[in-house]
Amino acid sequence: MGDLTLSQAEFHRLAEYIYLKTGIRFEPGKEYYVAKRVEKRMRELDFTGFGRYFNYLRFQPSGAEIELLVNSLTVNETYFFREYSQLKCFAEEVVPLLTRDLGGGRLKVWSAGCSTGEEPYTLAIILLEMLADTGITFEVHGTDINTNVLRAAERACYGDRAVKDVPEDYLRKYFRREGDGYLVLPVVKKNVRLYRLNLNDGSTMDGMRGFHAIFCRNVLIYFDDCSRREVALRFYRSLEPGGFIFLGHSESMSRITPIFKLRRFKEAIIYQK
Ligand SMILES: C[S@@+](CC[C@H](N)C(=O)[O-])C[C@H]1O[C@@H](n2cnc3c(N)ncnc32)[C@H](O)[C@@H]1O
Repeated sequence: MGDLTLSQAEFHRLAEYIYLKTGIRFEPGKEYYVAKRVEKRMRELDFTGFGRYFNYLRFQPSGAEIELLVNSLTVNETYFFREYSQLKCFAEEVVPLLTRDLGGGRLKVWSAGCSTGEEPYTLAIILLEMLADTGITFEVHGTDINTNVLRAAERACYGDRAVKDVPEDYLRKYFRREGDGYLVLPVVKKNVRLYRLNLNDGSTMDGMRGFHAIFCRNVLIYFDDCSRREVALRFYRSLEPGGFIFLGHSESMSRITPIFKLRRFKEAIIYQK
């Protein structure tokens, strides 16, 4: 077995390649994090040198290896009803605004970077509550680049930590106990479409149209300003006029692009097209 440790130059080449593919920027200091995952893949595939593995990664026609590597590199931390005050603002202030002009139409909401599904299912629960008896229907799209987390989202069975912030009555109404976990009920699941989507892939992003609200929370923190701006402009095109975009509490759109209006609500500050 050869030496699998990545040199600075190798780390740099790999980080640049991952950036081009995903928009995720691994800065110096992340060498150990990246190297551990690459070394594991090289060992599994019996590669003894980085050069050969890197060629395999880039030129494998199916693209399966980059998918596997990216699956191991993304940070997928999430839970139901994350950033509660922002969701309260969505439920009580934004949804009424959006539905006011919708008539009997259909509300389209996107959880971009949905990880294991807690965010799109949270949004579906909120919309079930808010739109009951209004005649307005909705769909929630949950997308992620990582195929492992999407499989978990499809299973929709969660542990105590994931549901710790779910209000007690919603837990009873929208989940069923399954062994040690909580299974999301079909009444919620049937409103959520889950699929793989790379936010850095312009042509796929061009197909995302007609959304009234986009949640992209705690995703762009892993991008650099250049890829953040690209994604922000694509989100702009994906939104209907007057549509809203929700970022994580530590993330700012104004710093990236002036294209969105800043709207101050009681519970949160949100960007609008
Ligand atoms: C920390 S999780 C955030 C989950 C959820 N939005 C929340 O706030 O709880 C970030 C997710 O973004 C996804 N992600 C990272 N880069 C992506 C890209 N280029 N395209 C799509 N998803 C990406 C990761 O796979 C991960 O599941």
